[in-house]
Amino acid sequence: MDTTTTDWRRQVVGVDQQVPVRDGVRVPYINMDNAASTPSLVRVRDAVDQLLIWYASVHRGTGFKSRVTTAAYEEARHILLRFLGAESGDRVAIFTKNTTESINVLAYRFFWEPDAIVLTTEMEHHANLLPWRQKVRVEYLPLDARGVVDVTQLAARLEQYQSRVKLVTLSGASNVTGYTPPIHEVARIAHHYHAEILVDAAQLAPHAPIHMLSPDDPAHLDYVVLSGHKMYAPFGTGLLVGPRHRFSQGAPFVEGGGAVKFVTRDTVEWDDPPAREEAGSPNVIGAVAMATAAKTLMAMGMDNLETHERMLDHYLIDKLRAIPGLRILGNPEAMHAERIGVVSFVIERVPAMLVAAILGYEWGIGVRAGCFCAHPYLLQLLQISDRQAERIRQELRDHDGRHVPAAVRISLGFYNTIAEVDRVVTALTRIARQENRGEYVQNPQTSEYEPRGLVEDYGWAFQF
Ligand SMILES: Cc1ncc(COP(=O)(O)O)c(C=O)c1O
Repeated sequence: MDTTTTDWRRQVVGVDQQVPVRDGVRVPYINMDNAASTPSLVRVRDAVDQLLIWYASVHRGTGFKSRVTTAAYEEARHILLRFLGAESGDRVAIFTKNTTESINVLAYRFFWEPDAIVLTTEMEHHANLLPWRQKVRVEYLPLDARGVVDVTQLAARLEQYQSRVKLVTLSGASNVTGYTPPIHEVARIAHHYHAEILVDAAQLAPHAPIHMLSPDDPAHLDYVVLSGHKMYAPFGTGLLVGPRHRFSQGAPFVEGGGAVKFVTRDTVEWDDPPAREEAGSPNVIGAVAMATAAKTLMAMGMDNLETHERMLDHYLIDKLRAIPGLRILGNPEAMHAERIGVVSFVIERVPAMLVAAILGYEWGIGVRAGCFCAHPYLLQLLQISDRQAERIRQELRDHDGRHVPAAVRISLGFYNTIAEVDRVVTALTRIARQENRGEYVQNPQTSEYEPRGLVEDYGWAFQF
């Protein structure tokens, strides 16, 4: 491990934590599930500790502690705007619970005309599908034969629908294949056709720099959403950034105290954004944690993190390719330079859920298996027909989840190392040869596997 990587590892809470594996032996935990949630940065934990000394009611409190708390909360917005290259223009940073809530707020904020269309892609997370589908007609931009967004198709679609497409929305990075579409090129085309663009940056934000750019720039991003728990700040906060005017009219998504200037028995005077969109007492600790993470990542250099993670990702892909029976989903070659370190795959004859269980119970390696909240994309990548999908739906209604399609996902963070990748590859090579030691049983409802007769006690690890 070089010195930079060693330094970076020291910045992460819980790295190399010993965990038990099946035979009672303890091994250093390897976390390769960063796309789901990252661990906390040490700096984030320290900032939370420090703020707790001063923590008091936010906004309107007149005591010194309230003033400190309010100042920290408001400063957090500025730091995050800087992190996203969003300081120019009249933009507003709204704190939410997570990316999902951010997109729901935004979907509510458009006053949809009956013929309006939202254009999205076939690789989206449910968070960037379902909130739109409830409110407006959604059209999908297909991925081309290489599995990447076809920008010529984008222009053709926008031309076809004239100005009915109000918003083009897509992930900055796929949580399934790691693919990073050309968001600024998409933005330029969308703006040419008078549509706005939303980038779901839940996956992109912790791995590569984001530049929302000046609103005068045709390649600018109108809206960006992200989650603290995916960028080393797991304290329950998300963010929605967009032009202030979008949030300046009408009632907010959530109504209540904090979002108003004045209320009588029959009338309400809503506050200006961002307060208007943050009813109820906000999560100050979460906001400060998220901004501290952003500041720390900026100090480490997002370009440096990206370079390191790309090196790890390419190394991982080369090693996985050499494992007989393992098939990577999507087309990492086509995405070579346009990806983050997220790799999904299946192994012949070994169900994905079982692979994940063996990695966890026998090797102390944390990954995710399943459909990663991107069912339409997974169905496409695994070539599940509509008929098969319908049968699975019926089975699920009968509480039988055994045939739900699944893949295994490895997702990297800046603190992961070549040695960790090597260990994961060794484990997968053995699994592909069906050399696992334990006997596993599947829960038919969840389709998850666990060792037969498992009795676990977590009290030694954590107690209230
Ligand atoms: C691309 C993408 N978008 C949105 C989300 C939803 O994020 P959250 O669960 O923090 O709301 C995720 C979470 O995995 C994601 O990967």
